[in-house]
Order: sequence, then structure tokens, then C-alpha cells
Amino acid sequence: MNTISFQPFIIGVAGGSGSGKSTVSQKVLAAFGADMVSVVMQDDYYCDQTHLAPEVRPQQNYDHPQAFEWSLLVQHIQALRNGQAIEMPEYDFTIHNRSNRTIPVKPAPVIVIEGLFALYDADLCDMMSLKIYVDTASDIRFIRRMQRDITERGRSVESVVDQYLETVRPMHKQFIEPTKRNADIIIPHGANGPAVDMITTKVASVIEQLKP
Ligand code: CTP
Repeated sequence: MNTISFQPFIIGVAGGSGSGKSTVSQKVLAAFGADMVSVVMQDDYYCDQTHLAPEVRPQQNYDHPQAFEWSLLVQHIQALRNGQAIEMPEYDFTIHNRSNRTIPVKPAPVIVIEGLFALYDADLCDMMSLKIYVDTASDIRFIRRMQRDITERGRSVESVVDQYLETVRPMHKQFIEPTKRNADIIIPHGANGPAVDMITTKVASVIEQLKP
């Protein structure tokens, strides 16, 4: 078993769909590299839906906390904290299910957990040293989601609009937006430059303290 002699600095990056969570996380990763930063995407922990017929999968509520396999996510974050590598499931949005591949994630001094519900679970929040909520206006988030779901996730305009009104919007108000109060910092306008600079400055100082 691989062990590390320090507790990783765990950062949670939450926010609504299309808010820019992935961009913030990828900027932190790009600033320090994969030896220093590992990113865990909560989307990859959507529950396995192999038991459901393919035609009913698109109708599920993917914006409710119960859509995720929390036990596996918490177990994986605990493993990374203990210096153990994990095999993260890989989610395929085009089939609404996990693919048959996994993604190896190694322990690192900085672990970023990124997702709609990154600041929802008390056990996960307790493990985080920095909790960030990306607070982007809902009209901007909807436009981004529409563009992305059509180009990357194989969806139609009608399906994006229906899903947004039926589940994405109400679940955001009920479950995601309230997690803003769990955040240490709230970033407006998505991955804005000054905010990302402040985060990377903090991470740089944490990494500096780890040097012998
Ligand atoms: N989702 C979906 N179909 C699935 C699974 C999830 O449409 N089979 C949608 C959910 O409705 C949820 C969204 O995927 O709202 C979660 O991804 P999102 O947060 O939008 O993507 P990120 O790229 O992680 O976010 P950001 O744009 O903030 O970087």
C-alpha cells in the first residue's frame, strides 16, 4: 500500500449546472500539474443504471442527491486521504450510465472534489480544507448547458428545455443553491481570473509548506 505522511489539502468546488466548476478545477490542476493535484468529479459517481432499460434512463432525475452513489464517493475520498490510489468510475452522459472503464486517480497533496453536490454531504465537507461555491447567474448557466448538452452529450433542444424545467431548475433551488452557505468562498461569474488567482495563491502556499 502506498502511504503519504501528510493530510492532503482537500478542496470542494460546488455550484449549479453550467456554473464553471470544471473550469475552476481544471485551472487549479493546470497551475500545479498532476503530481500535485488530483481531481475527483462527482459526475462520475452517478449511480450505475445498468438495471434500467435504456429508454427509461433519460427520464431519471439527475439533479437529486439520491442520483449519486455517495458511499463509493466518500470511500474513495477517504482512500485518497490515506494515500491510496482509487479507480474512479467513468460516467458516459450519452448513455446515461457508467461506461465499462474506470479512471485511475492517485493520491496527491491537493485533492479537488468537483460537482453539483460537492458541498452537500456533511462527512465530505468535514474533510475539506477549502469549500468553494461557483455562483453563476441562471441564464448564463442555462445557455452554457444548452450548448454543451447538444454538442457533447447528444441531446436535442427540446430535451434540454424539458429537463431544465422539470428537474434541473427546481432541484437547484431546493438542494444545490442552499449549499452556498457551506462555502468558505463564493465565486461570482464562473471561473473569473482574480478568484482563480486567489485560489491558486492559497494552493501554492499549501504546497510550499509541504516541501522538506
Ligand atoms: N445529467 C444529465 N444526464 C445524465 C446525468 C446527468 O443530463 N445522465 C445532468 C444533470 O441534469 C446535472 C448535470 O448533468 O444537472 C451535471 O453536470 P454539470 O454540473 O452541468 O456539468 P459540469 O461540467 O461538471 O459543470 P460546470 O459546467 O459547472 O463545469
